[in-house]
Amino acid sequence: MTIHIGAKPGQIAETVLMPGDPYRAKWAAETFLEGAELVNEVRGMLGFTGTWKGNRVTIQGSGMGMPSLSIYANELIRDYGAKTLIRIGSCGAMQNRIKVRDVIIAMTCTTVATPSSTIMRELNYSPCADYGLLEAAVAAARKTDVGVHVGGIYSSDTFYDERPDLNEQMQRHGVLGVEMEAAELYTLAQRHGVRALGIMTVSDHLLTGEDLPSDQREKTFGDMVEIALEAAFA
Ligand code: HPA
Repeated sequence: MTIHIGAKPGQIAETVLMPGDPYRAKWAAETFLEGAELVNEVRGMLGFTGTWKGNRVTIQGSGMGMPSLSIYANELIRDYGAKTLIRIGSCGAMQNRIKVRDVIIAMTCTTVATPSSTIMRELNYSPCADYGLLEAAVAAARKTDVGVHVGGIYSSDTFYDERPDLNEQMQRHGVLGVEMEAAELYTLAQRHGVRALGIMTVSDHLLTGEDLPSDQREKTFGDMVEIALEAAFA
């Protein structure tokens, strides 16, 4: 047990998928894993462990934003020995060629700050995905009918953004989409020598104002879970 995760030693798999929403963790575990068992419910941040094609997997909610994800990722890596962590989340699209329901796979993440910024001091550190996972996720995504985009994203600290000028600069510099967690996940993974990747479904579009209709959210989220599982065990 850690401060925020109630799982006993050995109850967390080396491969962990991390949706922001704990109820998405429950849905994904019940839908994709065999023998899924609840291993954490501290603060309602549900986590489940089961198997996928014979491989052990944990699906653990991260909460929203980098400070929350940082707590869970730190404890999963340092206390439970997680070796592969894949964020499965949503993002807002920042380029016209990207459509809602497409998937964005993040190579790197621009930030204003991460929970790790204080130790970086004057460094403008660039968090980077694990290349093997990235390559495998792209290959898995190409086998589906989902549009896939690979490149830089923006890990923001705010959902209700008051700096449209920042978004404009990022759009001009090719940033694909905005979410709130991946940069810290990549930074922690690199610090501890484990693998990380962020795969995000486009749930809304910053340029067109379009939203993913609620009846399509589940199917789209499911496609992303399958891409993540294929990538983890490729
Ligand atoms: N901003 C930040 N995070 C998000 C968004 C957004 O527009 N959409 C989904 N996650």
